[in-house]
Amino acid sequence: MGITKICCIGAGYVGGPTMAVIAQKCPHIQVTVVDLNTERIAAWNDADLSNIPIYEPGLDSIVGEARGRNLFFSTDVDKAIEEAQIIFISVNTPTKTYGKGKGMAADLKYIELCARQIARVAKDNKIVVEKSTLPVRTAEAIKSILDNTGNGVQFQILSNPEFLAEGTAVQDLLNPDRILIGGDATFEGQKAIQSLVDVYSNWVDTDKILTTNVWSSELSKLTANAFLAQRISSINAMSALCEKTGADVNEVAKAIGMDSRIGSKFLKASVGFGGSCFQKDILNLVYIAKSYGLNEVADYWEQVIIMNDHQKRRFSNKIVQTLYNTVSDKKIAFLGWAFKKDTNDTRESAAIYVADDLINEHANIAVYDPKVSSEKILNDLNYLETRSSVANASSITSFLDPYEACKNAHAIAILTEWDEFQNYDWQKIYNAMQKPAFIFDGRNLLNGAALREIGFVYQNIGS
Ligand code: UDX
Ligand code: UDX
Ligand code: ADP
Repeated sequence: MGITKICCIGAGYVGGPTMAVIAQKCPHIQVTVVDLNTERIAAWNDADLSNIPIYEPGLDSIVGEARGRNLFFSTDVDKAIEEAQIIFISVNTPTKTYGKGKGMAADLKYIELCARQIARVAKDNKIVVEKSTLPVRTAEAIKSILDNTGNGVQFQILSNPEFLAEGTAVQDLLNPDRILIGGDATFEGQKAIQSLVDVYSNWVDTDKILTTNVWSSELSKLTANAFLAQRISSINAMSALCEKTGADVNEVAKAIGMDSRIGSKFLKASVGFGGSCFQKDILNLVYIAKSYGLNEVADYWEQVIIMNDHQKRRFSNKIVQTLYNTVSDKKIAFLGWAFKKDTNDTRESAAIYVADDLINEHANIAVYDPKVSSEKILNDLNYLETRSSVANASSITSFLDPYEACKNAHAIAILTEWDEFQNYDWQKIYNAMQKPAFIFDGRNLLNGAALREIGFVYQNIGS
């Protein structure tokens, strides 16, 4: 059976861009993205494409091309489920904030609600695809809910993890390194896998489409994120040693990256990794390993998180120490709040934790980020529940102009590697700051020699 209708539950960072690209590349398939969040759906439907809820380079034009043709955004979840032959589940799976596995395990509440809704609504056979990153063996739980509807509907569950990175989502979707599809070894399972392979092969070479069993697929996603995060923690650990020994972490990274067994990508020392995936997936991996009694495996991966937390704290400590051991009532300007450049996403951004530490030291934080709103910045801090929202609001201010954010500041901290920071008039910024004027470059982004020439005291990560 050729697929003509797809639905995706969850119009977030994964579901939105992924479905937009499927719709663009498969004009013969009707793609409907549904979400409970009416505001989010309204934003996806906004006539002004600059208002779609997710900022990703190139996404607006893809949505503009496909929307209304074969790409639809709706809050009518039941109708979309009923009509579709393939249903992607792309809802959020945050770390649990309560009960057993609190702070470690993934919260599968939203996934289970989706499965129950599909079970209730579906009248004919469906392929259900896990798109969200999930603990290994989640497919089994989904299957058990779906297989007990009693109305004779047959479901095939596939795991099809998404490897896109934010900020490059469109490019990653258009030219993926691989597409991974896990399914059952049964005839029906293989048929379901083939249906999904046929969708992707509209634009991806079939030799880049891997098919595995469900468990391998689920575990590969957690493993990929754990390995990527581990590289960052490894280079960040070396950055601390470089600062003590006189080695330069950029030189070390280059030297080891030329070993083809190591490779040069993902070796940038930083103030620490953020984003919605790395920490959550590793905590989840640690929890799974522990639950099978594999304590050494759990401890091994937990070190990646411990190192990352250390790196963030090391950065805030360095600011306090360098500013004569007190930042009380000093203005510290943050350039960047997003967890990386070219995204408005701030989940788990290092900036949040560095700001929290500095506010504990009674600093006043002034933030400029080209894409993040002041409401979001305040919400991120409030979410930590370190202090009242009133106290947060009086300690942090957002600016629409970077020069205003830096005016009269004692120090500037670079938290996100936005390109535009490199092109600022740094002499002008220097002139308007308190002296000595400090820059703490948490992304090794700026030209330290040029800044020192102007008169800044410039410190970066790992040299
Ligand atoms: C990640 C994975 O890359 C992606 O494959 C998966 O699907 C989701 O999780 P994402 O979190 O969007 O993607 O961004 P990524 O580019 O991986 O960066 C994550 C964090 O690591 C960012 O805070 C980034 O600044 C940091 N980072 C990345 C470094 O500090 N150094 C590096 O060398 C690379
Ligand atoms: C290593 C480094 O590779 C080399 O660059 C350095 O100069 C010296 O140390 P060597 O110890 O000779 O070289 O062999 P290598 O091929 O790295 O293997 C080391 C061990 O790791 C072996 O026991 C090998 O069996 C094992 N290994 C290697 C694995 O278990 N899995 C792998 O994927 C690779
Ligand atoms: P991700 O980064 O994994 O895409 P997001 O939080 O950006 O995560 O998006 C997940 C979306 O899923 C949210 O917009 C949320 O409203 C939506 N969602 C969660 N549960 C359901 C549900 N049962 N039905 C429809 N949408 C849901």
